[in-house]
Amino acid sequence: MKIAIFDSGFGGLSLLNEALKRFSGVEFIYFADNENAPYGTKSKDEIICLTKKCVKFLVDQKADMITIACNTATSAAITELRSSFSVPIIGMEPAIKLGANTGGDILVVATPATINGNKLSDLIHKVNLQSKTHLLALPKLVKFAQNMEFDSEEVLKYLKDEISKFDLSNIDLLVLGCTHFNYFKDSFRAILPDKIGIIDGVNGTINQMIRRLGGISKFGDKNSISYISSTKNLDIKEIEPYLKRLDIMREIN
Ligand code: DGL
Repeated sequence: MKIAIFDSGFGGLSLLNEALKRFSGVEFIYFADNENAPYGTKSKDEIICLTKKCVKFLVDQKADMITIACNTATSAAITELRSSFSVPIIGMEPAIKLGANTGGDILVVATPATINGNKLSDLIHKVNLQSKTHLLALPKLVKFAQNMEFDSEEVLKYLKDEISKFDLSNIDLLVLGCTHFNYFKDSFRAILPDKIGIIDGVNGTINQMIRRLGGISKFGDKNSISYISSTKNLDIKEIEPYLKRLDIMREIN
């Protein structure tokens, strides 16, 4: 079983990191379009064009399933991808469904393309949330993550300034609608009151992958991974600090 996981950069490693714990006997290909990241500040047409190129590459690698571990690419391009390729393609959306019954308001943070895209407003409409949804674009976080800058003063100040635009007293839930934002869970936690839970879409997306595979997640004993970047083949040494950080961040909610 060959599963390709695609993101504009290193954010999708949060999905891969979890997938490695939930699947066995899978040959994973992780593909990062680092050359063109960030996607979230690009136009819909540009994102469609870039994503199609990457997915074509993964189809050529004979992937049995492709997961778009990128809310931005899913928002802009999933419809075109599914009509262009016959391989199963799993997308990723901000996990607002999980907040449907919390009662309080929800704050969704994502890239500008996701926040302003029709897919998110359609989703909010479809889920028919009782809660009020507030939306916040945080484009700088993607660059910070791509540069491995996770908990500097600058990161913390950026988040504090942005979050302080909201009255948090009615908010119960923060939805991380960008896979790059999983690297900053500790900073979000430090800024937000304890009563605000933090969720992301990683587990929901993996559940969807398993459902699509007929409920099967064990295909053998060991997983293998190859990392590919549009800039060059990625060395595991470059990836390790990201995976280590994600192991710490996954405990925060
Ligand atoms: N990681 C991507 C997401 O989940 C987007 C990052 C970018 O702007 O390239 O939306």
